[in-house]
This record gives sequence, structure tokens and C-alpha cells, in this order.
Amino acid sequence: MKARIDAILHREQAEYLDTLLPAGDDLLAEMEKYASEHKTPIADREVALFLEITARSMGARRVLEIGMAIGYSVIHLARGMSDDSQIVTIEPADEMIRAAEKFIETAGYTERVRIERGRALDVLPRLDGTFDLVFIDALKEEYGDYLELALPLLRAGGVVIVDNLLWGGQVATVARNEKQKNSTEALRKFNRRFVNHPQLRAVVLPVGDGLGYGIKL
Ligand SMILES: C[S@@+](CC[C@H](N)C(=O)[O-])C[C@H]1O[C@@H](n2cnc3c(N)ncnc32)[C@H](O)[C@@H]1O
Repeated sequence: MKARIDAILHREQAEYLDTLLPAGDDLLAEMEKYASEHKTPIADREVALFLEITARSMGARRVLEIGMAIGYSVIHLARGMSDDSQIVTIEPADEMIRAAEKFIETAGYTERVRIERGRALDVLPRLDGTFDLVFIDALKEEYGDYLELALPLLRAGGVVIVDNLLWGGQVATVARNEKQKNSTEALRKFNRRFVNHPQLRAVVLPVGDGLGYGIKL
């Protein structure tokens, strides 16, 4: 979720692009309302659609998500995947998990989504199998560690997508406040590593709050 509509793009362009987003449905509207009322950070609509389109375009059968929140991105990913596919998603917060389970059930995806309750740095080392797509969207200070732990689980030719790499524009200017200093510096470091990573061909796109897109070599 970006800090403001014009945090990345000029306001006119950001507002124009918003008018081009396809209409959502009742479930997505309910989730967006829940997120807004509970101040839960969920992906921007264009990012969620980007995930769905990527999963569909590559025929992803197994996806790993780090940071589920209420399942907004999970539901988009599932919509881009076949009925026999699986999403493994990591989330430590019980309240998020309760809300996500309800939304995922309403969407009819309970059988296809495996929620790993816990912190990503604890959960990732015990995951097995191979994934086609990894989506990173949890603690910004830990992105570098998530990437290193997730890469061995990603197949060659698989895709890694990372949210919030422009961090409301802060990475390119200065941190908005003391609280955001560590995350901003961590993301600057992560971005340099991501685009130069020896196992990836990767780019950072000005989509949503800044979206990393890389393919494993
Ligand atoms: C930005 S939200 C995820 C949004 C979600 N991907 C979506 O687009 O709908 C980040 C989530 O990461 C979770 N989180 C916090 N610490 C975490 C950790 N150590 N490991 C995994 N997830 C964590 C938070 O509870 C929060 O729900």
C-alpha cells in the first residue's frame, strides 16, 4: 500500500491510472473496506492484479507468499492459478489469520491455501518443495534475509516479486521520520542487492509502492 496516491507518480498520472483499473467484485470491496477500517496494509489494487496476471501468465502451480495479512494478495494469486495449484503463505498475527481464513473460505480457496503461522525467518528454513513464484511483503528490515532463504526454494526460471521497494518515495529522498529510518535504509540496501543479485535478473518498477520483479537464472 502506498503512503499517498502521489507518493510515487505525479498525482494526475496516478489518478488517471486508477481510472483504468478494472472494477472489483463484492468480496474485494469487502476486504478493502475491512483493511481501511482496521488500518491493515494490503497490496495496491494494481499490484494485486500484477500478481494475478503474473501467476496466470507463467502457469504458476505453487506460490510462496511472505506476509499474508487478510489474504487480499492470496485471493488475487489464486484467481490466476489452476484448481490443483497451491499457495503457501506465512503470517504470524492471529487476528490477520482469522480474517484471512474467513475471506479465503468465502472465495472458495481454503483447500488451495496453506497458512504457515509464524515469523518468516522461523518458517522459511523448514519449508520444502519448489515454488514457481515468491511474493515478499512483510518486514522491510528482513527483506534481504527473506530473499536469501526463499531463493533456494524457487525453481530456475521462477519469479520473485517484492512489494514496497520505493517505500513511499523515501528510498530516493530521506526517511519521513525516525521510525522509518531503519526500514528505509534496509530497503536501499535490499534494492541494490536485488538488481545486482548473481542468481537473478531483476528490475524495480514504479508500480504501486515500487515493485521488484526478478527471474531466477
Ligand atoms: C503488507 S502486509 C501483507 C499484505 C498482503 N500481502 C496483501 O497484499 O494483502 C504485511 C504482513 O506481514 C506480517 N508480518 C509481520 N511480521 C512478519 C514476519 N516476521 N514474518 C511474516 N509476516 C510478518 C504482518 O502481520 C502483515 O500482515
